[in-house]
Amino acid sequence: MNIKKFEEFIKTGVVKKQSPNRQRALHLLEEVKDKKQFLNKALKTMPPKDVYTNFIIDSCYDIIMESIRAKMFTDGYNPGNSHQAEVSYLRNLGFLEPHIIFMDELRYNRNGIKYYGTIFDREYADNVLDFMERIYPKLIVNIPTREECIKILKENNVTDNIIAHLKAVCEFSMKVVDVLEKKGINVNRELVAAGALLHDIKKLAPGNHVIVGYEFVKSLGYPEVALIVKKHGLADLKNDDCVPKTWEEKIVFYSDKRVKNDRVVSADERFEYIKQKYNKADVEIELKFTKEIEKELLGNEKILN
Ligand SMILES: [Fe+2]
Repeated sequence: MNIKKFEEFIKTGVVKKQSPNRQRALHLLEEVKDKKQFLNKALKTMPPKDVYTNFIIDSCYDIIMESIRAKMFTDGYNPGNSHQAEVSYLRNLGFLEPHIIFMDELRYNRNGIKYYGTIFDREYADNVLDFMERIYPKLIVNIPTREECIKILKENNVTDNIIAHLKAVCEFSMKVVDVLEKKGINVNRELVAAGALLHDIKKLAPGNHVIVGYEFVKSLGYPEVALIVKKHGLADLKNDDCVPKTWEEKIVFYSDKRVKNDRVVSADERFEYIKQKYNKADVEIELKFTKEIEKELLGNEKILN
């Protein structure tokens, strides 16, 4: 089936451009989270047979479609009533053709449930569930693009040398993502990029730059990116809230420990620099922690530049 380009839906007036409506998007995302929670609870009590299959498919469909709609509101589009346009928008969000084809088939099948009484088996329902779980984290998160991140940095008078560091950390972090993806680990690349680009946004602010940066990025409406900022520092590793735990958090934490100014160096060299610059007696614990993360992310692979 040929799925039209999103731009064609705009040309024909099916989708209209409007100013971004973040409020509406956030409201929709709240609803999506509730629906997903309800589905997860229901799944735990459901017998593993061919019952409730249509409920699973319908719920997953709603969760995905509403998440896409939220993205469209954020990006300044009024989705109107065309589900096809929403499916097509996945392409603009960076999803690959197999995802779009699967989603369009799901749209078609869900119409079958709604209007023709089609009943699907549990195998298909499980496939849909699996698909939803895989694309949901990428849809639900509100992530600024790399261009938006640079704009935010400039608007906030971040100095050129800090921006050069942030760009270098971002570039390095993409190489770490490549290593993990090769191993079949699913990482949200855009979330990593935004976290890397914004992690030192408040580097020169008075107080703890990690926490000030976290609060600031959160106030911009990017809570997931803010969490990455919160977990990139060395000073708060004793505080469990500030310890990197997700892949994305670990990648940015680690990449920052491999980039001195705007140059890739070994973790040892970076820590030697930190020790001198911040006049620390020793950085043994922090270095050990960083090397553990290095092992977890890279295994035996090396990224030298
Ligand atoms: Fe940094």
